[in-house]
Amino acid sequence: MNIIAVTVLVILLNCGSFCICVPPQQLLVNMTVVRNATALGAFCLDGSLPAYHLHRGFGAGVRNWILQFEGGGWCNDLKSCLERANTRRGSTKYMNKLATFSGILSNNASLNPDFYNWNRVKLRYCDGASFGGDAMFKNGTSILYFRGQKIWEAIIQDLLPKGLGHARQALLSGCSAGGLSSFLHCDGLAKMLPNATVKCLSDAGFFLDEKDVSLKYTMRSFYAKLVTLQGVEKNLNKKCTNFFSKNPELCFFPQHALKFITPPFFILNAAYDVFQFNHILVPPSADLLGQWKGCKNNTAQCNEKQIDTLQGFRQNMLLALRSFSKNFSQWGMFINSCFAHCQSESQETWLAVNSPRIHDVTIAKAVGDWYFNRNGTNEIDCPFPCDTTCHNLIPTALDDRRFLSSISESDLDGCEDCLARKHKDNKSGINQPMHGLMVVGFALFLDRITFRDCYVSLIS
Ligand SMILES: *[C@@H]1O[C@H](CO)[C@@H](O)[C@H](O)[C@H]1NC(C)=O
Ligand SMILES: *[C@@H]1O[C@H](CO)[C@@H](O)[C@H](O)[C@H]1NC(C)=O
Ligand SMILES: *[C@@H]1O[C@H](CO)[C@@H](O)[C@H](O)[C@H]1NC(C)=O
Ligand SMILES: *[C@@H]1O[C@H](CO)[C@@H](O)[C@H](O)[C@H]1NC(C)=O
Ligand SMILES: *[C@@H]1O[C@H](CO)[C@@H](O)[C@H](O)[C@H]1NC(C)=O
Ligand SMILES: *[C@@H]1O[C@H](CO)[C@@H](O)[C@H](O)[C@H]1NC(C)=O
Ligand SMILES: *[C@@H]1O[C@H](CO)[C@@H](O)[C@H](O)[C@H]1NC(C)=O
Ligand SMILES: *[C@@H]1O[C@H](CO)[C@@H](O)[C@H](O)[C@H]1NC(C)=O
Ligand SMILES: *[C@@H]1O[C@H](CO)[C@@H](O)[C@H](O)[C@H]1NC(C)=O
Repeated sequence: MNIIAVTVLVILLNCGSFCICVPPQQLLVNMTVVRNATALGAFCLDGSLPAYHLHRGFGAGVRNWILQFEGGGWCNDLKSCLERANTRRGSTKYMNKLATFSGILSNNASLNPDFYNWNRVKLRYCDGASFGGDAMFKNGTSILYFRGQKIWEAIIQDLLPKGLGHARQALLSGCSAGGLSSFLHCDGLAKMLPNATVKCLSDAGFFLDEKDVSLKYTMRSFYAKLVTLQGVEKNLNKKCTNFFSKNPELCFFPQHALKFITPPFFILNAAYDVFQFNHILVPPSADLLGQWKGCKNNTAQCNEKQIDTLQGFRQNMLLALRSFSKNFSQWGMFINSCFAHCQSESQETWLAVNSPRIHDVTIAKAVGDWYFNRNGTNEIDCPFPCDTTCHNLIPTALDDRRFLSSISESDLDGCEDCLARKHKDNKSGINQPMHGLMVVGFALFLDRITFRDCYVSLIS
């Protein structure tokens, strides 16, 4: 059984009064290793056992469950997967055993009014294919397990007897690569819980099938390699792969898979998602001359044409969501015009005095209204720069550095491996070519803010 501790962490950042720091009270939840995973062949990249963190629900929420996929990029070739297998992204051996539960995972009614008393689970990500693969690589010297699908199944099998099997209501969620997992496994969860109301949420997981600024489909090629290497295709939605029988790997893109998903779905995404900006719209390979460097660093440095390009990206995102939004009595969305990435896991963006809003509605309220059918939630923001509530990860004015330190909770889940992580993340910084290892986003800011100080004080 998990032992839970509320630890007081005083985090002092070096960036002065503009910082939005992590709230002082943190709920830390112990890791549960899935011992039975061996029987299912469910292993992390390096062969270690998969794991999750469970914080029990109580009161009226005791039969409700949130399952949240951890995010953290992908690996789509042997080199990047072998590297990853030696980090917390590919092995539970290197993971912190305590996870921070905040935002949508918080147990505090005033910070998470709709889900605080639910059973809340964080599924650790260690396969590198959004919990989607089922394959293996083995030669004389190296071995890699691509078993994301099996990991998903093993965790569910472990949770069913712990109460999930008797769930009344469930919400499958996740951010970034984990937000993509929500698309991949939404139907599967609904099938496994026929007597429960199952709904799904993707936070920053609506990765667009878009050309980059050099008119190449960089992301398509990236996912095609991933799907092939990790044996993902057979686990994709069958109706979708039949429909796209010539390019079944397209079903890894949420916008193509979406219309084949049955349970009600909520899409939470920033229209100018910084990960998509840096890896789909303007990957380093599409900006060899570095014309976008300034704009990526501070949107006040974007020229008119670049702003137009960003607006075009937003338009295409809204277009991809359009047919979906027509059916919004059951389905919902919150697309804010921010330079953000992942907004449900950290308290500052989920629900706080100055958290992001559209039409004065916070993300926590929008998701709750949708889940509980209180109000159709179809919130689409006006285009940049009209929204003043954003927590932008890229400054939008020359003197605006307010939110540079609002790190996603998944990046703050501990410190055991901080230095290793800093080193690894650094390797995949935005200005280096993408070569398989895509670790989401905060490498962007390592040069500019003092993460190290944050981590160091976290240890205390
Ligand atoms: C986590 O579990 C370990 C081993 O059971 C235990 O020693 C530790 O105190 C727990 N930590 C917390 C914060 O619950
Ligand atoms: C819940 O959060 C509120 C607002 O941050 C805080 O005042 C309160 O002490 C918290 N309650 C618990 C039990 O931690
Ligand atoms: C096994 O594969 C790895 C990764 O491609 C390679 O570095 C290594 O040399 C291979 N070993 C053998 C024995 O082929
Ligand atoms: C693990 O598997 C064994 C044998 O199949 C089963 O008896 C046991 O209940 C399982 N344990 C858990 C925690 O699922
Ligand atoms: C669902 O509910 C029905 C009727 O109450 C029951 O017979 C069935 O066993 C339940 N199924 C599951 C998977 O709990
Ligand atoms: C990045 O932006 C900051 C201001 O936010 C500026 O001081 C710095 O020179 C910029 N760096 C580059 C490479 O443009
Ligand atoms: C919306 O509903 C219509 C009619 O029921 C259906 O044809 C269409 O496929 C749905 N769109 C999506 C994205 O589910
Ligand atoms: C539903 O949301 C709209 C727009 O946010 C708001 O004007 C309306 O009052 C809400 N209705 C209810 C019943 O909460
Ligand atoms: C991070 O990368 C920069 C240049 O890309 C390099 O100068 C720096 O030493 C790296 N830091 C670490 C910790 O690897």
